[in-house]
Amino acid sequence: MTTPIQNQKLDSLLMPWHTDWTALFGTDRPLILEIGFGYGAFLFHLARQHPQSNIVGIEISNRCLVKVEGRLARESFPNVRVIHSRAETALNHLFVPESLTEIHINFPDPWFKTDHARRRLMQRDTLDAMVSRLQPNGSLYLATDIIAYAEMSAELLAATPGLTNQLASPWVNSLPGRVTTKYEARARAEGRSCYYFAYRRNDVPAPAVPVIKDLDMPHMVFTTPLSLDDMRDRFEAFHHNDGDVHIGYSAVFRGEYTLLFEIHVNEPTISQHTALLLTQRQVENEYTLQLASFGHARPTEGVHAAVYALGSWLLSLHPDAQVVKQKLRPDVSAGAT
Ligand SMILES: C[S@@+](CC[C@H](N)C(=O)[O-])C[C@H]1O[C@@H](n2cnc3c(N)ncnc32)[C@H](O)[C@@H]1O
Repeated sequence: MTTPIQNQKLDSLLMPWHTDWTALFGTDRPLILEIGFGYGAFLFHLARQHPQSNIVGIEISNRCLVKVEGRLARESFPNVRVIHSRAETALNHLFVPESLTEIHINFPDPWFKTDHARRRLMQRDTLDAMVSRLQPNGSLYLATDIIAYAEMSAELLAATPGLTNQLASPWVNSLPGRVTTKYEARARAEGRSCYYFAYRRNDVPAPAVPVIKDLDMPHMVFTTPLSLDDMRDRFEAFHHNDGDVHIGYSAVFRGEYTLLFEIHVNEPTISQHTALLLTQRQVENEYTLQLASFGHARPTEGVHAAVYALGSWLLSLHPDAQVVKQKLRPDVSAGAT
């Protein structure tokens, strides 16, 4: 048994990729995940129902986290940890394949607008990550009160060879013994039916979804006759797309020997709001572009793409500008628009 880490705020952007859950809990026990636990009724129910398992809850809402963290600080739940994280980040960066015995999703946000469809939890890539993370015979449970979401999920789950339906129908309208979540209680009070799914991981090989780890820190060193002021004055906010990575460069700030570029990097598994730093070197006309060292940005593929695209733009400002050296993932410019 190792010393557990308790009552400490956890965030998937600050945690090791992947996470050592045995060290975090201080015990090596089966691991159960609840995605989007809201106000935690189901999470605490899981904790009581499975005292011999460790329960991880993830949420993106700070309001919900604060509420549940408060209860964890007041009451003793040694087998529960809650993490500020998007589901996609936790599944792809924190958990190794075959590490979870159960995954629970209760009343996910539907994101009906076509523009928002990529945010839906129940979609191919995220479901493949869940299948990969489940242990043999592990279970996936989903509940929703929206018939269109139930139908969409039924289709997606039926087309997932690694999962077997545990029910005689695609879903059921009640599951005996289930604790009622806050959202579920409201749905029922407002007269909406609920749809429950129960699937089991079978022995069909899981899709290959390796843990996404940190890359090396990206940087680019280049020479240009332009000054920091010249480069700052030429800057206008712009967007850059590299495959399914979307980068927004929104502002530039001048320091004594630096320019700081504010960026938003959105990747399928992680979103980061951070900064790139351009520093004047002691060699004349030479500059280094790198990820700013403050904050907690992670050197992902998207961050490499962000350094590449900004570096390329800075180089394009003068015909004599040239790269001295760079450390960027090799295919960083492939597919860039
Ligand atoms: C409709 S509420 C349901 C809350 C709770 N499960 C219940 O049944 O009362 C959906 C919850 O999922 C969270 N959520 C939405 N998208 C998420 C994501 N990608 N990752 C983690 N949590 C998410 C929201 O913040 C919200 O708390």
